[in-house]
Amino acid sequence: MEIGTGKSYAKIILIGEHAVVYGEPAIALPVKSIGLSARVAPLPDGRQEVTSAFFTGDLNAGQLTNFAGIAMLIRRLLVFFDASKQGFHLTITSALPSERGMGSSAATAVAVVRAFYDAFQTPLTRTALLNWADISEKALHGNPSGLDAATASAEKPQWFVRGKSLRSIMMPRNGVLLIADTGIAGQTKVAVDLVAQKLKQAPKVYRPLITDIGTAVRQAALALAQDDIIMLGQLLNRDQADLAALGVSSPELDRLINVAIDHGAYGAKLTGSGIGGCMIALAAEDQAPTIIQALKAANAVKVWEYHFETK
Ligand code: MEV
Repeated sequence: MEIGTGKSYAKIILIGEHAVVYGEPAIALPVKSIGLSARVAPLPDGRQEVTSAFFTGDLNAGQLTNFAGIAMLIRRLLVFFDASKQGFHLTITSALPSERGMGSSAATAVAVVRAFYDAFQTPLTRTALLNWADISEKALHGNPSGLDAATASAEKPQWFVRGKSLRSIMMPRNGVLLIADTGIAGQTKVAVDLVAQKLKQAPKVYRPLITDIGTAVRQAALALAQDDIIMLGQLLNRDQADLAALGVSSPELDRLINVAIDHGAYGAKLTGSGIGGCMIALAAEDQAPTIIQALKAANAVKVWEYHFETK
């Protein structure tokens, strides 16, 4: 084993969360300005240690929340490399807040797998990477679609259909996406289980919402192809209405979403699993400062600006 490193990014789901678990498409973006890195170094005395520093959203260093899943992933990686007794020190450093819908657990898994493959000087395919990440994601969420790891490991915005399709997709030429943190933790498993329970109890009420999200995502792909940011904004609003009806929004998310719309955003919605976590707002560049100010005044813990890559 050599010293190995791996990186990954925060992910933002533009449209399609939750429905993606049930086979509908989703569009998600890696946020390269919010990254996570893993560094593994051999330890000669057999000790196996993990140190992590996670940004929590209120600028305190946080802890790795998905430790059991990551520990299991590392054990399996070591068996794969025939190195179960190998000592190592793994350091994970993250600018992603955990439990805020930014894919912190998937980003951790992706960077850790990349670091171990690098340490054992083994080429890693994207398919193998996503299969590995699924181990810790399953341990944490139960029924992950795979979207989070697919986006955390990507360099470009992704069109994703569970088990079927993964490809880059063009973003609008203009506009900016604002990401605002409610400061409230949202656990993916809780939200995904809630939706599953509702679909089981009242399929006639909830299944059409899943279908409508899928339709909105397909129309969003069309809006992106036509570079129609106004239509894209309207589709984000429609998606948010469906997600709220599914029960995964929250008063804090609703407040920030309404503030963004009231201050001129084309559209706004929760992002990720919801209940807590972050919202996104699609806005014109010149409108962004006003919206950012309004989001902060409405108690957003942090606001990030994501500028679309045009190439
Ligand atoms: C969580 O970031 C996204 C969900 O759609 C769950 C998943 O895709 O596994 C809520």
